[in-house]
Amino acid sequence: KETKDQLIIDAGQKHFGATMCKSCGMIYAASNSEDELQHVQHHHRFVEGIKYTGWKKERVVAEFWDGKIVLVLPRDPSYAIRKVEDVQELVDNELGFQQVVPKYPNKTKTLLFISDEKKVVGCLIAEPIKQAFRVLSEPTGPETPSSKECQRAWQCSDVPEPAVCGISRIWVFRLKRRKRIARRLVDTLRNCFMFGCFLRTDEIAFSDPTPDGKLFATKYCNT
Ligand code: ACO
Ligand code: ZN
Repeated sequence: KETKDQLIIDAGQKHFGATMCKSCGMIYAASNSEDELQHVQHHHRFVEGIKYTGWKKERVVAEFWDGKIVLVLPRDPSYAIRKVEDVQELVDNELGFQQVVPKYPNKTKTLLFISDEKKVVGCLIAEPIKQAFRVLSEPTGPETPSSKECQRAWQCSDVPEPAVCGISRIWVFRLKRRKRIARRLVDTLRNCFMFGCFLRTDEIAFSDPTPDGKLFATKYCNT
């Protein structure tokens, strides 16, 4: 069963009258059979991937009115690791990461935000690091390139600064964004990454942030 919302997407005539699936968040043209097929494929994988049935030995590290956060560690049972890998694959797909990274290195900590509807709606993957390079504020001026290709070309300082914890992935399900889920994931990470201390914002670093990631990180670190 799926519900559909008729939306008008302001992205040119091609997408006029596109549909957004309320379960998987994909925007597609229902009138286009190729699009429809792509949706069916994505839909199934996505819905299966984020389904969370509950685990016998789950490590709940935070609870909220609209869900909870569970922590998954490298030596956890394989069903937990498999869930993290499934979610990471969905996230990497969405972010366009192609390379298959070694799965679950032994110092990785993953936080999953589980919604009341028993779905994984947020994911944060972190690992210990020793240093990071500060992202410099973007150059402004008439010669600033604004094409899409340049969106990732942040300028970084070449002076390494000490850091403790690197966030390699942070992701929130499209239909649950701007509900402070990412913020709660990072707050929880700061509290449980190192036993007995609450990390400062300058001790955590976001690796290769996307435009969304950068907007979030800037806001998070300044408040
Ligand atoms: N545009 C502008 N400001 C934003 C945005 C945005 N897209 N996202 C977050 N913020 C700011 C806002 O100030 C927001 O507070 P407000 O809603 O009260 O104004 C504040 O950050 C906190 O935002 P949250 O609600 O906690 O963030 P959310 O749960 O929506 O998740 C995230 C943010 C994870 C970046 C989400 O947009 C996402 O999953 N995007 C796609 C995946 C992605 O790009 N992830 C980052 C990759 S980089 C990396 O992994 C290291
Ligand atoms: Zn769908």
